[in-house]
Amino acid sequence: MALERTLSIIKPDAVAKNVIGPIYSRFEQGGLKIIAAKMVQLSRAEAEGFYAVHRERPFFNALVEFMISGPVMVQVLEGEGAVLKNRDLMGATNPKEAAAGTIRADFADSIDANAVHGSDSLENAAIEIAYFFPATAVYAGR
Ligand code: PPS
Repeated sequence: MALERTLSIIKPDAVAKNVIGPIYSRFEQGGLKIIAAKMVQLSRAEAEGFYAVHRERPFFNALVEFMISGPVMVQVLEGEGAVLKNRDLMGATNPKEAAAGTIRADFADSIDANAVHGSDSLENAAIEIAYFFPATAVYAGR
């Protein structure tokens, strides 16, 4: 498996619940290294830009409102097969359908307040990482 990087966001619900630490532990125990991180209060324009691909979906406005409702923690995760690994650790989009032991099963309340975002492909990971981090901000030493 190849070494990959993926973008992760801990959403406002999870930040408000004080579970950044436990979620970081899931990443680290799952073999993912946190190689860049920052806490951000997204503007409406930034949230709309990030989710532009979902602009036509019925929940777009609700998703943007939620993502600007409080600070989010944004990180780049690196590891073998990081994109899929992170999606596995996150669990299904709807926490009611998320497998036991996943982040969403344990920390999310509903499909619209579902604790974490993770890039869904290697191609989107590169786009999403560049959206939040200049190349110089991502740890490159090894
Ligand atoms: S995913 O995770 O991209 O495969 O899921 P998808 O169903 O395509 O959803 C895209 C993002 O929209 C969020 N979402 C919703 N927000 C509010 N209300 C409803 N009903 C809803 N359904 C889906 C979902 O959490 C995805 O956000 P991110 O940040 O990518 O996880």
